[in-house]
Amino acid sequence: MASGSALDIHVRQVTKSYGAIVVLDRVDLDVRPGEFLTLLGPSGSGKTTLLMVLAGFTRPDSGSILFGEREVIRLAPHKRDLGMVFQNYALFPHMDVATNIGFPLRLRGVNSADIAKRVEAALEMVQLGGYGTRGVHELSGGQRQRVALARALVFEPRIILMDEPLSALDKQLRELMQLELRRLHEKLGTTTIYVTHDQREALTMSDRIAVINNGKVAQLDTPQHIYSKPKSRFVAEFIGESTFLNVTVTDGVCRYHDQVIKADGAPVQNGPCLLMIRPEQVLILDSAAQEGMNCFSGRIASRVFQGDTVRLEVQLSRGDAITLRIAANSAGLAAVPSDSETITLGLPIADTTLLLEEV
Ligand SMILES: Nc1ncnc2c1ncn2[C@@H]1O[C@H](COP(=O)(O)OP(=O)(O)OP(=O)(O)O)[C@@H](O)[C@H]1O
Ligand SMILES: [Mg+2]
Repeated sequence: MASGSALDIHVRQVTKSYGAIVVLDRVDLDVRPGEFLTLLGPSGSGKTTLLMVLAGFTRPDSGSILFGEREVIRLAPHKRDLGMVFQNYALFPHMDVATNIGFPLRLRGVNSADIAKRVEAALEMVQLGGYGTRGVHELSGGQRQRVALARALVFEPRIILMDEPLSALDKQLRELMQLELRRLHEKLGTTTIYVTHDQREALTMSDRIAVINNGKVAQLDTPQHIYSKPKSRFVAEFIGESTFLNVTVTDGVCRYHDQVIKADGAPVQNGPCLLMIRPEQVLILDSAAQEGMNCFSGRIASRVFQGDTVRLEVQLSRGDAITLRIAANSAGLAAVPSDSETITLGLPIADTTLLLEEV
């Protein structure tokens, strides 16, 4: 089941307020044709509202939305040619599986022979072949979510919007469905906007991630860049663990106290900024300072066994603490000095990231 050629989406300066609360604040977002783009952000940041605006259920106060070349802001939801999957399935409980999936086709006036064929194909696609006559109440959570997905895909929309579709499932099923959604996306190539507040889900599934904070896009980038090159403290803290050291940039040179810090890429503007250190980026060096590294000396203040890794906190002589993680295997553990020794930590220059407090 191939959808029509994939569509690009352009959100321009979209604003939506409820009373005095600005929920979407001049949002700009460009989604590429066939892309799997995830909106990731904390609760209340405006993700669902943005999806509802795209779907046409919520009218923004101002701004423009293009699907391809077409301005859709005044278009009714059913004319926008998009499929939607919600968190709570939203299936019709009194209809069987096939009738649920065929519903969008009946709305569009497709004849019943074609509906039967397309419903069966959609069921196969979500690996529920033969389930058409089951009642919705006879399905597990994961099966219900597959039916909801089949119903969203059956009319071959050019865009699909999903709002936390897996959040009702347990961890194992959620991970299975993540892979399936990804597989389906690769097969169909439908432009997809996916909402989650689960950072790992976003990193696993997306071509690109838009991190949303307070109704604004804080950063739009690939999962790799969002993780390793966040543009702000907010993005860095929202995705993964990190330590921040206060540093100062003067005439393009970054210093932590009097120590020069070398970073990959362009230096941030002059003034105070932050050195971001991810726990897995830091190495324990067996000698003093090394080439290609920013080095820090300190003492181990705590060690916590976490199964696959050991989390160490190293108290620097300057008072800050750096958290690092090492593999909990014999080689990794053998490299950890005792608490009383002074150790040298190395942060490769290629991994050294400077960022601004606020963007
Ligand atoms: N119909 C409404 N009337 C008034 N306020 C609303 C309405 N819909 C949403 N809001 C407010 O807009 C803000 C954003 O809500 P939204 O549902 O878009 O957040 P979200 O990012 O989807 O959060 P979550 O992760 O919890 O689903 C919230 O502060 C919410 O209270
Ligand atoms: Mg929401």
